[in-house]
Amino acid sequence: MTDPIAAWHAEHVYFKRLLDLLHKQVDVFSTGQRPNYELMLDILHYLRHYTDQFHHPREDVAFARLARHCPDMKLTLDRLTQEHRVIARAGTTLLKYLEEATAEAVIPLAEIEVAAATYLVYYGNHIAREEEDVLSRAAQVLTADDWEAVRAAVPVGHDPLFGDHPEERYREVRRQIALEA
Ligand SMILES: [Fe+2]
Ligand SMILES: [Fe+2]
Repeated sequence: MTDPIAAWHAEHVYFKRLLDLLHKQVDVFSTGQRPNYELMLDILHYLRHYTDQFHHPREDVAFARLARHCPDMKLTLDRLTQEHRVIARAGTTLLKYLEEATAEAVIPLAEIEVAAATYLVYYGNHIAREEEDVLSRAAQVLTADDWEAVRAAVPVGHDPLFGDHPEERYREVRRQIALEA
């Protein structure tokens, strides 16, 4: 069976790659050029539809289990759980802007710039906290029963971008990731 901590960390590495790509597009705003809204939209689509619906619900269960073993971590874990809700809400807003921008609707650049830059920083810090404060403790204390509960939290989702059979809509995101590698 796959080591759950290794799988958890691997997903964070994937998400950070996406945030790096998003960052490159946010940098374009300051040049006065048009960012690649289509690419940004695909990244947000993935984060909103895969990460928010599979990765985060599993973490919510892992955090609750971890808090039972480690009461000293409860505040940190509660904050991270709350951040999942904030990330989902912020992602919905940004996704809407990007859908409008790609549909050629007139939407103030500053709105998209602020939403994207804020999302990026907030999300990056969130992943860093999990990597630094949570994963090694989880590796030490979570039991087989805890991991079973984490797995059972949501049905196993096919990863449409980094999985074995990526969806066509993510072709450009995959190409960009390969260029960065
Ligand atoms: Fe998280
Ligand atoms: Fe995470």
